[in-house]
Amino acid sequence: MSKQFDVAVIGAGAAGMMCAAVAGQRGKRVVLIDHASRLAEKIRISGGGRCNFTNLHAGPANFLSDNPHFCKSALSRYTSQDFLALIKRHQISWHEKHKGQLFCDDSAEDIIRMLKAECDSGKVQWRMPCAVSGIQKDASGFTIATAQGDITALNVVIATGGLSIPKIGATDFAHQIARQFGLKLVDPRPALVPLTFDAAAWQPFVALAGISLEVDIETGQKKQKMVFREDLLFTHRGLSGPAVLQISSFWQPGTSIRINLLPENDLAQELIEAKTTSKKNISNYLSQYLPARLVDGLLAAHQIQGDSRIADMPDKRLRDLADKINRWELQPNGSEGYRKAEVTRGGVDTKELSQQSMMSNKVPGLYFVGEAVDVTGWLGGYNFQWAWASGSAAGNAI
Ligand code: FDA
Repeated sequence: MSKQFDVAVIGAGAAGMMCAAVAGQRGKRVVLIDHASRLAEKIRISGGGRCNFTNLHAGPANFLSDNPHFCKSALSRYTSQDFLALIKRHQISWHEKHKGQLFCDDSAEDIIRMLKAECDSGKVQWRMPCAVSGIQKDASGFTIATAQGDITALNVVIATGGLSIPKIGATDFAHQIARQFGLKLVDPRPALVPLTFDAAAWQPFVALAGISLEVDIETGQKKQKMVFREDLLFTHRGLSGPAVLQISSFWQPGTSIRINLLPENDLAQELIEAKTTSKKNISNYLSQYLPARLVDGLLAAHQIQGDSRIADMPDKRLRDLADKINRWELQPNGSEGYRKAEVTRGGVDTKELSQQSMMSNKVPGLYFVGEAVDVTGWLGGYNFQWAWASGSAAGNAI
């Protein structure tokens, strides 16, 4: 078994396999090392098992980073169409779900098999499962200490991802290596994650668990304001669903989120008009738009009897209720954390890296790709597109 390589890629996930395949197919001697016993577990569980592998509209505006320009170069050189061409070449059937999100028709396993085949055609060697205990650099390159002995390589690519879902093998290895080599980190935190609320304040809504509806959700003020129209899901501990996952990446602890449960209706105006035109009670009126269980919960939370006739209710009471529905303001007390987060915000500071190659400016030959880097996509296939694009950028540059 060879122990000397042009490139050692650590982490055989989305970005690592893409990088290894590209470098291998360019004739580089590549070794791919991963501590897990199952290959690419995050791809396997992604998109509910069908992997939302890219987004047709992926562009720099769909990514969060302290340096929003950094991702432009890699994303423009490896686009969603490039990945789609690869998918088609491997005859994987796929469909667009909505908003440009592309999923496998059958299984996320198709993507794993495709990336493995691409690595095989680049003659990539595998060390897996194989724990890595350290990396040292000297004038002749890098020495990687592994459970299968030392490996030497001229270049090392760190593709070990972020901190989310530790139970399937996520570690802070990328952050450790960045610190060891003197690279700055942007503070990591869970993103695309359900939000939680103070237990007592959430009590009136616990019974709503399982209800899902399309809402407008926003956080931040003025230029920092972000708004998404997506599905919201009530849970026992708080809120989840695509709407909340999206907004969680932008939400700052100590601030509020605002939810419009009826984004197509100006409810205050409607209810005031309904006083003269409708004989309905408030519960029946709202139930034409909202799930009955949600209506019951909202009315109970605001101490309103469901059988109150709209015509008999004071304007102020109707306006207050409409405001709570069109502009429900809540302050989360935290999130479900890395246990449930789809991704990690923050990571290796992009100011430390070349946007062309993903190589460290300070440490020639040391690269960081994928989620380890401070580039975080919205929900909807953007994070995989970043993994493909950054992996390809490094694989082509080495
Ligand atoms: P990734 O996490 O894929 O790979 C890192 C690899 O490094 C792993 O194989 C791990 O075992 C290995 N590793 C870690 N530490 C190591 C160490 N110390 N030594 C050796 N190896 C080590 N995104 C998207 O675009 N569409 C989607 O549908 C979804 N769905 C989704 C669902 C769920 C439940 C989660 C948790 C996440 C998603 N994502 C997603 C996000 C997406 O999975 C994620 O952004 C990419 O997998 C990141 O790719 P990386 O290659 O950077 O890391």
